[in-house]
Amino acid sequence: MSDVTEERASEEAERAEQYVKAVHEAVIPKPEFSSIDNPANTEGQTSDYGFTYELPERPDPPPIPNGWFSITASADLAAGEIKSVIAVGRELVVLRTEAGVATVMDAHCPHLGAHLGGGWMTGEDINCPYHGWKFDTDGTCVEIPYSDARIPSRACVPSYEVREQDGFVYFWYHTGGKAPQYEIPRVSEADDPQWSAAHVWQFEMKAALGEMAENNVDYAHLHYVHRRPNIPNDTSRFIPNGYFSEVVESLPEGPDFVRYTYGPGIALLRITDLMTIYATTTPIDRHHARLNWHFFFPRNVEHVAEEMIDGVTGEFGILADIPIWRDKVYRNRPILVKGDGNIAEFRQWYSQFYEDSNWDG
Ligand code: FES
Ligand SMILES: [Fe+2]
Repeated sequence: MSDVTEERASEEAERAEQYVKAVHEAVIPKPEFSSIDNPANTEGQTSDYGFTYELPERPDPPPIPNGWFSITASADLAAGEIKSVIAVGRELVVLRTEAGVATVMDAHCPHLGAHLGGGWMTGEDINCPYHGWKFDTDGTCVEIPYSDARIPSRACVPSYEVREQDGFVYFWYHTGGKAPQYEIPRVSEADDPQWSAAHVWQFEMKAALGEMAENNVDYAHLHYVHRRPNIPNDTSRFIPNGYFSEVVESLPEGPDFVRYTYGPGIALLRITDLMTIYATTTPIDRHHARLNWHFFFPRNVEHVAEEMIDGVTGEFGILADIPIWRDKVYRNRPILVKGDGNIAEFRQWYSQFYEDSNWDG
């Protein structure tokens, strides 16, 4: 190596190191105490004196929004496999045919109601475990093996629109039964050889989807819950764009964050040159959420993967939000002040995913 090239290489290495350091400070704070021990939860607790308290029911959180939701990671569904999944407040099955097609349908057979999760696949069809009725991937009954009666036209299992791309199987949920209103953008990192394979993180928690989503534009909580030293505020922009939105943060000293949101179930957080989080969030019911996140790293920084993932998901990351979501109630008319970020704008944008778009609790 010539002197000049050597110098340039070392400059570059130094820049890379400074960059990682700046990200550390922004993503992985080292405060003296954390918030995850927050003992506020009183729901369901009995008193030390043996009483069960009588309290009014907490108001319902926001409803389940309409959109594309992941039901499984592609890698977790083999050809010929049937899995039972509870999502969007429904019992569902997701299956993969021998040819590799992923399908999502309601779990209960139209005949006498058996759960199809206990059934089996033959080629492209699913067979009910109770009397062997056979259904194709549209949910249409194609064979009643013990009867020569004409197949009743009502013998159908409701099925869902499915998209499989970039490592996830998605299904379309709409409370009013409407067809898909948007398509899911592709994520280039998912099959780019310059980027790592997906580092998988999965979790379930008590949190309504709308409450969780709002967190991303709630800047003041970043300090109190996540112990971040710098709170973005003037540095942050929320850009609604139809069914999608973007949050762009440019911290004065530190990396650029862009958070793309594709409907209520999919988000993509890109920290330039360092990490991309492909975050899918699925409502299990109105009160609970399932997180299935894929982290990608450029190959040259993959050695910091574990630390970065812990920064996002660990005690100063999402774990710190959990007791807040678990114990809070939804305020339909919150008192918002300067410094509260883009909560009002975000709610306005998000309300389009509720069947009753005037939903405000
Ligand atoms: S209940 Fe499914 S075939 Fe009878
Ligand atoms: Fe948070």
